[in-house]
Amino acid sequence: MPERQRYETSIAKSMNETENHLRNMTEPQLTDVVVERYSKTPEPRLKEIMSSLIRHLHDFVREVRLNEQEWMVGIDFLTRTGQMSDRKRQEMILLSDNLGVSALVNIVSSGVAEGATESTVVGPFYVPDSPEHSWGESILLRKQVEPSFIVHGRILGPNDEPVPHARIEVWQTDTNGMYDIQDKSQPEDNLRGSYHSNEQGEFRIHTIRPTSYPIPTDGPVGELLRATDRHPWRPAHLHATISAAGYKKLTTHLFDAADAYLDSDVVFAVKESLIRTITLNANTDDAARYGVVSPFWELSTDFHLQSTG
Ligand code: BEZ
Ligand code: FE
Repeated sequence: MPERQRYETSIAKSMNETENHLRNMTEPQLTDVVVERYSKTPEPRLKEIMSSLIRHLHDFVREVRLNEQEWMVGIDFLTRTGQMSDRKRQEMILLSDNLGVSALVNIVSSGVAEGATESTVVGPFYVPDSPEHSWGESILLRKQVEPSFIVHGRILGPNDEPVPHARIEVWQTDTNGMYDIQDKSQPEDNLRGSYHSNEQGEFRIHTIRPTSYPIPTDGPVGELLRATDRHPWRPAHLHATISAAGYKKLTTHLFDAADAYLDSDVVFAVKESLIRTITLNANTDDAARYGVVSPFWELSTDFHLQSTG
């Protein structure tokens, strides 16, 4: 048989085989056939992720013997979660956080170097480009009725060298448990802002002491929490993202050691090394130095960055 004819015959045969295969799918065959269909994905990492995702999804369906009605409930849930999401309401991130996926991705991808500050989840309430503040300025933009909270320390590199001009973005809820972007009654950018370290790597944040708060439960993730009998609370924390040229960006929290929810965080993001004891400082000289009313809450803590190299 001439070579050209042999080639065409073999193509026709293989197409027939594939089609027969695709027409007569059995439960054990289907997964391999679907993975094979994705096998020409040119980008290797995408190919690896897709084939593993397909295998795990199929295993899940087989394991729980998912029926069509249940799958439609799942599709409807995911659809509503997506539809509720926008720049200010990140219901998809909230779902990932609640399933522990964000915390797991953080654990498998962060690989903390010896001595470096651990990272944790960013959460759905980060807003880029928050307003710049000088050291004396508070990120609280409403009338203050509670004591100030001063967080001060140094930004350090892997050899304990000071990191000057590092950008420290912080954000937290107000005492009603809501972030500014959730709550129209708060001024825009209330309790979020950016500070910079000085030449010695020192920084100073002026805020109020964070409180524990429930994550939003008025959407599909709230339905899931109720259906699974889980509480929605996060332990009190201050979010911080620190960026400096030559160092890896660090996204972390500082957790309040006095909080009751440290061991049952709804999004599984507490790390022992990030828990800090906040003290009440009644020294009037210190208060004057920081430009706050005495007494005030105080936390002295350093952040240790990893270098990019
Ligand atoms: C937060 O701390 O802002 C947060 C993190 C994950 C889910 C919900 C909120
Ligand atoms: Fe938070």
